[in-house]
Amino acid sequence: MILVCGGAGYIGSHTVHLLSRGGFEVCVLDNMQKGHAESIGGFKLYRGDLRDGGVLDTVFGENKIDAVVHFAANSLVGESVREPLKYYDNNVAATMNLVSAMLRHNVKKIVFSSTAATYGEPERVPIFEDDRTLPTNPYGETKLAIERMLKWCDAAYGMKSVCLRYFNAAGAMPDGSIGEDHNPETHLIPIILQAALGKRPYIEVFGDDYPTADGTCVRDYIHVIDLADAHILALRHLLDGGDSRIYNLGAGNGYTVRQIIEAARRITGIDIPEKTAGRRPGDPAMLVASSDKIKAELGWEPGYSLDDIISSAWLWHKTHPHGF
Ligand code: UFG
Repeated sequence: MILVCGGAGYIGSHTVHLLSRGGFEVCVLDNMQKGHAESIGGFKLYRGDLRDGGVLDTVFGENKIDAVVHFAANSLVGESVREPLKYYDNNVAATMNLVSAMLRHNVKKIVFSSTAATYGEPERVPIFEDDRTLPTNPYGETKLAIERMLKWCDAAYGMKSVCLRYFNAAGAMPDGSIGEDHNPETHLIPIILQAALGKRPYIEVFGDDYPTADGTCVRDYIHVIDLADAHILALRHLLDGGDSRIYNLGAGNGYTVRQIIEAARRITGIDIPEKTAGRRPGDPAMLVASSDKIKAELGWEPGYSLDDIISSAWLWHKTHPHGF
């Protein structure tokens, strides 16, 4: 049985469905602060918080857990700057509690959701895993602290981990059944599509004076299903007795904000209105991953293009304009 913490969230729920299709038995632990029970209908769900050792003992006591896939976290960069302690508590302390419970129950395999925010302002693009990690916000800082905690827990207790540093997750289940439903929504592609649906008057472009082709920020958008696939490969690696690893996960292609808006206009057929606004503090000009390491070592290959990302997200938003 695989325990998925934060499995009712955006990336977690897509991974739960793929794990199940891949033949894994799955149970979910989620405090439902951001999660949606509808996204994992039919799967065993424990409503509880990782900071509650009693809940963890119940989950590990009632199920024979072979490994944990851990998505549960707060993940808003701006909020983390305003409320750093919330991030140290819900990301670092909660994961510490989870890992302690895993050790109590002799579970020593974990796939952990990390982030490109561990790098901060990159020294070069594409970014490789051994490039400098110098987070520019508490969100990235707490994820990096957890990566390091896991490294030391491997040395001390033999806890094996795969940390996956996501770039920009986007897209939805290709049949439109589940997708991204955040409140507030801060991510570019859902906001563009909300503007296409008339739920917002326009999309604001945060800065067009960056040193990039059209002056807007470049990001590496990766389909949530490609991300989910990588978790399954990481899990199989650990279940086969593999050692601890850290991998970037991006599609390896950089697109500017304006290129994304143009692609969304083409795919939706809607002339989505746009306005230029000031830069958003803390946004690096360019984030593009080298994912060569996970391709070479685990055989991962992204299967979805930018058009697939936007059209699957569009199908989800069109059919669920108010979310779940
Ligand atoms: N953007 C806009 N207008 C919007 C929203 C976003 O122009 O309304 C721009 C942003 O400035 C950025 C790009 O679109 O240049 C992508 O922004 P997102 O908020 O979608 O994603 P980020 O690149 O900021 O964030 C991602 C992950 C975070 C992670 C971060 C690392 O979602 O979890 O990368 O820097 F922390």
